[in-house]
Amino acid sequence: MAETNFTPRVFSGVKPSGGITLGNYLGAFKRWVSMQDEAYENTYCVVDLHAITVWQDPDALRHATRETTAALLASGIDPARSTLFNQSQVPAHAELGWIFNCVARVGWMNRMTQFKDKAGKNAEKVSLGLYGYPALMAADILVHHATHVPVGEDQKQHVELTRDIAAKFNHDYKVDFFPIAEPVIEGPGTRVMNLRDGSKKMSKSGESDMERINMTDDADLIAKKFKKARTDPEPLPETLEALDGRAEARNLVDIYAGLSDTTPEAVIAEYAGAGWGRFKPALADLAVAKLAPISSEMSRLMDDPGEIDRILAAGAEKAEAVAQPILEKTYDIVGLVRGR
Ligand code: TYM
Repeated sequence: MAETNFTPRVFSGVKPSGGITLGNYLGAFKRWVSMQDEAYENTYCVVDLHAITVWQDPDALRHATRETTAALLASGIDPARSTLFNQSQVPAHAELGWIFNCVARVGWMNRMTQFKDKAGKNAEKVSLGLYGYPALMAADILVHHATHVPVGEDQKQHVELTRDIAAKFNHDYKVDFFPIAEPVIEGPGTRVMNLRDGSKKMSKSGESDMERINMTDDADLIAKKFKKARTDPEPLPETLEALDGRAEARNLVDIYAGLSDTTPEAVIAEYAGAGWGRFKPALADLAVAKLAPISSEMSRLMDDPGEIDRILAAGAEKAEAVAQPILEKTYDIVGLVRGR
């Protein structure tokens, strides 16, 4: 299907489960902010219904929803230019999610690596919601007829599944209704790794706080975490290729590049031959310079949760104006009788 039939529209989401990490910021938020200057309609969503696929304490969920919103606002998402809302305030997401539960195949879900990683050996005990999660994610994207989905590398398989669901729906009902959305995975920060183990991604749910940078960490803690970040004894090489096989070193170079809006090649050109005693403090200073203004703006916003709730409510109205007609048209296509 020609994508050009659809308004260029961006949709992306973040789970409010615990704090926001540098991985979220570099892999997603930064790109979302810059997409506001491009020729897209932008919709960004705090996906609270996704968060509850694993247990969330209700008060902690409320707090995380507001704090995640504050992080987006403080990073530069502008509610005047983007639609910013939390998922549960627009029921069309969950409703289209149900339709997609009936489109997606169990075999497709069984191939989702993130489910396998999260469920681990406990697959019998996790919620049904965790298993069906990618169908709800497809609904998030497609209920807005989004054409572009900026995400970190870890979400690529879910966006591909979204394309499969759209194609199967269009094929089964002989329509050209849902766009085949493109993942947008760009820049040096699309796969920020754990600071203690370069083979694992940095995540908000990892065991030790020392393995990640949180958006709310203060300058001392950021410096300490980078100082203690695992590396190897070698200095930084002359070329990027020479970092092959040095996952932790490569990660720190990528983080530096992401934070300074440059490329890993440029970072290597600047720091070739430097030891960690020079590179790590420079990285910590850079991270503090970039993150401190964001975290202080976050805490300012968190002083007025009522204002955050108002922003989310206004965003939900805008989102609903797009999503509800698409849901209703979907119901018609499927053959659901609607007399009111
Ligand atoms: P979530 O909440 O895990 O992450 C939000 C965004 O941050 C990116 N990200 C990373 N990028 C680089 N390195 C990392 N270490 C890292 N950790 C997280 C993620 O790739 C993501 O872009 N299923 C999604 C939320 C979602 C969604 C959607 C996304 C629900 N519906 C529709 C896009 C479109 C998730 O759990 O993201």
